[in-house]
Order: sequence, then C-alpha cells, then structure tokens
Amino acid sequence: MALFAVPNIIQDLIPAAASESINPWTWNLNLNASGLYEYLPTMHALSKFALLGACAVQSVMGLPEPVESREANLLKRNVDDWINRETPIAWQKLLCNIGPDGCAVRNQGVPAGVVVASPSRSDPDYFYTWTRDAALVYKGLADAFRRNYTEGLHTQLKNFVSSQAKLQGVGNPAGGLNDGQGLGEPKFMVDLKEFTGEWGRPQRDGPPLRAIALIRYAKWLVENGHKAVWPTIENDLKYSAQYWNQTGFDLWEEVPGSSFFTIASTHRALVEGAQLGAVLGKPTRAYTAVAPQVLCFQQSFWNAREGFVVSNINGGEWRRGRDANSILASIHNFDPSAGCDANTFQPCSDRALSNHKVVVDSFRSIYNINRGIAQNKAVAVGRYSEDIFYNGNPWFLATFAAAEQLYDALLVWKAQGSIAITQTSLPFFRDHVSSATVGTHAAGSATYNQIVSAITAYADGFIEVASKYAHSNGAMNEQIDRNTGQPIAAPDLTWSYSAFLTATARRDGYIPTGWGAGQATALPAGQCQKFEVAGNYNLPPTPVFPSNLTPAANAPVEQITAVPTGCTNPEKVFVTFNERASTSWGQVIKVVGNVPELGSWDVNKAVPLSASKYTSGDPLWSITLPIQAGSSVQYKYIRITNGVAGVSWEGGDNRAFSVPGATCDVQNRWDNWR
Ligand code: NOJ
Ligand code: NOJ
Repeated sequence: MALFAVPNIIQDLIPAAASESINPWTWNLNLNASGLYEYLPTMHALSKFALLGACAVQSVMGLPEPVESREANLLKRNVDDWINRETPIAWQKLLCNIGPDGCAVRNQGVPAGVVVASPSRSDPDYFYTWTRDAALVYKGLADAFRRNYTEGLHTQLKNFVSSQAKLQGVGNPAGGLNDGQGLGEPKFMVDLKEFTGEWGRPQRDGPPLRAIALIRYAKWLVENGHKAVWPTIENDLKYSAQYWNQTGFDLWEEVPGSSFFTIASTHRALVEGAQLGAVLGKPTRAYTAVAPQVLCFQQSFWNAREGFVVSNINGGEWRRGRDANSILASIHNFDPSAGCDANTFQPCSDRALSNHKVVVDSFRSIYNINRGIAQNKAVAVGRYSEDIFYNGNPWFLATFAAAEQLYDALLVWKAQGSIAITQTSLPFFRDHVSSATVGTHAAGSATYNQIVSAITAYADGFIEVASKYAHSNGAMNEQIDRNTGQPIAAPDLTWSYSAFLTATARRDGYIPTGWGAGQATALPAGQCQKFEVAGNYNLPPTPVFPSNLTPAANAPVEQITAVPTGCTNPEKVFVTFNERASTSWGQVIKVVGNVPELGSWDVNKAVPLSASKYTSGDPLWSITLPIQAGSSVQYKYIRITNGVAGVSWEGGDNRAFSVPGATCDVQNRWDNWR
C-alpha cells in the first residue's frame, strides 16, 4: 500500500516504535515503593497473542461468543487496524508541517522548529504559527521523545527551543517583552514576524502551554546531566504568574473572558515550573504563591447542579458553557500521581467524567452524522454546540480528546485496582453499566469488570468515529462536515495528528511523566485571593546545546519530584501595591520608583498594575512585586494614556517605605491617587 508507506527522509525522525506496525513496547503504570509512579516497559504484543489465543480456544471448543463481546472484539480489531496504519502517517504529516524541512512547508520561509498550523493558505488561511498549537504539538513530541530517543526528534526539540527564544522578543499588537504582554499574542507569521491583522488577543494559554512543552524537554536534559533551557521557560512562567487573572480570549479565539482551559494550563505550568526551577536553584516563590490561587479560581467554573464545567466565565455566557475546552484541559493536565482528584480535574475524577458526559451529549442531537447513535456509543465531538465556524462541525481533535480522557481514566483505575463512583459521576457510569451504584468497586468485582470493558469500548468508539471520517489515505482536516461526514476546513491540521498520537499513546498504556499534580491538589484555606506577581522579562540568549546531548547511561540523575512549597528567609519580600485610581477605558496605572524592581525611576520600566479587582464602586489597581529585603523604597504611581507619551504623574512628594528584612509575609501598601 503505497499510500501508507513512510518516505525515508521522514523515517529517521519517527521514533522506532511508531513506524512498526505493532508497537511491541508499551508502558505500564506501577506504583513503586516510595509511592511514586514509574513507567516500565512490558511486551504489549504478548497480550495481543494471549487474546488471539483466547479466541482460538473458544472456537475450538465451539463455545458461542456472547454478542456483546463479539461486537467489542470486532471494534477493537477495527480500531487496532486503523491505528496501525494511521500512526506512521500521522507522524509523517505532523512533521511535514514543521520548518525548515517539513515536506509541506519546506522552501517557504519557515524557520527551524516553527509549527505551521496547516499548510492551507486559503479557505481557511492557516499558514501561520500559533503559540497554542505549536506548544501542544511539541508537548506531545517531547513526551514521545522521552519515551523513545531518536536523534531526529531531538533536533526538532532543540529547534523548538531556539525558535521560541527568538519569538519571545518579537514585538506585536499584544505588546512587547518589556512588561511581558507581547507573550500573549496568539499567532505570528511563519517567518516569526508579527501578525498585524485584527485578532482575538491576547490569548493567555500560549505562555503556560509553551512553558509546559519546554519543561518536558528541560526535564529530560536535567535527567541526562545537562543544564535546562530556563530563560525562555522563565518568561512564560512570569507571564503566567502576572496575567493569569486578567481576561483574555479563549482557546477558540472568540470570547474574551476567563477560560477554564487557560486557567488549568496556567496552574500546571506554575506547579511544574516551580518543580524544575527548584532543581535548577532558580527563584520559584512567585509560582508557588500563585499556583494555589489559580487552582482556587479554577473551581469556580464548576456547575454542580448540572455536573459540568462552564468553560467560559466573565464573558461568553451566551454559550451554554458545554465545550471541548474542558475535556482538553483534563487530558492535558493528566497526572496519575493525583489519582482521580477533582480539583485538578483529573480525567478519572467524578467531575471530569460527569463533564465528559454532558459535553459529549451536547453534540448527540445537533449533528446529522450523530443521529440515531445509542447513548452508550461514541459520537463525533465538536468545540461547543453553538459554534458557527464553517457552520459548526465536529472536530477531529475534540473527538480524539474524548477518547483520550477515557483511556487516561482506565489507566488510573487499573493502577489503583478500583473504580470509585460518586453521585456526581453516577450518570456517566449508568450510561454504560445500568446497574452501577455509588461506591468503590474493586478490581475483580463484576461492576469493575463491566465498567472497564464498557469504557474501553466506548473510548475505542471515538477513535472509530474519527477513522470513519478521515480521508482514506489517512489525511485529516480540522473538521468533519456535520451533515455529510466529509473532512473539511483546514487540511492536514497539525493539531489533528498530534491529538491522534497522544490519544493512541494512552491507549497503548503510555503515560507521560507527571507534573507534580499529586502535590498540588490542595486549595488554599479561606477565600480565593487574586494574587498577581509582576515579573521582569528578558530576551533569552540564543540557546546553546552541548554537543554530547545523547541519553546518558550513567548521568547524574537529578530527581525532579518535589514541588517546592512554603518560604524561608527569602532574599526578596513580596510587596503588594494597591492604588485606588478611577481611570477611563484604555488608561493604565503603573508604579515606578528608585529601586531596580520599580524601574529605577525610568518610566519605560514602570510596572503596570492589574485592574482585575477594579469595579466602578472600588477602582482598585494592584500588583505584587518581589523587592530586595531591607531596601529603602521611594515610589509614585503614574497614569498612562496611549503609551508612555501620555504619562501623568500623581502629585505630592514621593511615597516612601522600608522593606523589612527577610520575611515571608506579604507587605501591603494602600494608596489613593492624588
Ligand atoms: C478564526 C479562529 O481561529 C476560529 O477559532 C474562529 O472560530 C474563527 N476565526 C471565527 O471567528
Ligand atoms: C482555530 C482554533 O479555534 C484555534 O484553537 C487554533 O489555534 C487555530 N484554529 C489554529 O489551528
């Protein structure tokens, strides 16, 4: 079958296992002595033989197979077949969209490590690089790389680091690197120039997602005895700690507000970033202080009455909130060390399962291609039911995500040896096992077994749906026509291939190393605090990689496990500047002062305050800044209208205070504009 052959130029980029028709190595989850999960390879092919053996025995003995298991076996075989054919194609086509040599983008001015969203230049024009798409694609590549070292993939990862280090310095309509705002720009020209057209900006998921992708690779470097790629990661973490509570556009680029996916991604980035930073001896207190507050806010998206995550709040409420946004948040924050924790929205948590049902159900009746499909069977999944982009259709990546969440859940249930059902998740389970009851069902019990086989088949069903609507040569677009089932909109969407590869990796039992979720599930006591810490941003130096960057057999492995918490003897003290100043739309309040952290009286380096707590009744601007312990500080607020040209200073003498010696207590300044 020529169509399914992989050209040689691509071959060396594909991890060995992916280009084999059956991947013999999959990874099983084991709980080791210290209670941490580790991933051990086991022979997957063996279990397949065992299965064949079981069928053979049955037919030899002439036992009729029950209809249900016959159906399930057939489904499994169909899905296995398609996955085996599709895997090398997905790898190839994904890599085809990455510069400079990808087969669909070469000689078109795409620098190394730049992911083009789709090679399509019209209807739709997707010949751009989106920070979100690129980060999610590279997150998957980094996980695949950690699992299976190839030099080709390694080159890709290094290229990504270099391209993003450069991209961070590119000024754009969202702003510059000075105060970090430019990092929120959603998309760029493929040659890394700014995109100046109108767009839904900023989109605040880009920086945390990029940090997450880079951290995956940085951890590999550390584990192999090399220094990590910190400066680029640090800018994105600082952005996350500073701007997380400000509204921005959702991942679908349509509604300004607070987006669940963005918040969940931010929480993960801060936790994982603090973990890496601690190993590297970098300051992490801003991340550890902000992360629990982000998690706290994340809880407010939950609609307990109807059992789902309202994906957009503080804007976009004209939608009913049922959105693949939340399923994507769940799979991209999967970490079995958190078990089935609901706060971090783990895939097997009762909330995430209930949400899975509500979101998937919202697409059952609206698409013609889903008509007549039984409630316990998979359907094509879209972004959200009110979508009108290309008339509103199912998307490949959303359909794969629905499968991936269930594979994730299955992995944790098997590792735990039990399935817990709560009132919240009961409706989800009842769709598949009508006799399911609230309680903990241990491995070996009838309910456990029924659930595992029903959910395995349900998950495979989503893959089968996607396979049915993919092109017969394995190509996938962005969307699936809601009436005809034809693949439509952006052809060869990079993200579609990535979504296929991550979902099927989970199906194969491969679990990415965790991000510290198990140590980051606790909510802060009391009310959520909107704690925003300002960072100083620096253009990352051009990354330099040592020449001997191969996996080292005896490298001094640094354990990247503990997430730092608490604070002892900090060099810098957190100071929150609270300034009440009525402003009109477009105006910004900044603080400037004598110490370097306040820009050394240079208005170009003044630190913007956040208006996230501003209301008409209480015009509060605030920001938290780490300032050298013991400093004597003088400062003033300035009001900026239309850039620094329009600076107006508040009147009176400079304000003054002394920062105490090393204290972990946040110091508050309460001021009124004068
Ligand atoms: C392009 C965006 O990428 C897409 O998400 C959106 O639906 C359309 N613009 C229409 O606004
Ligand atoms: C539209 C999607 O809504 C958005 O999430 C994505 O980043 C762009 N297309 C590019 O793929």
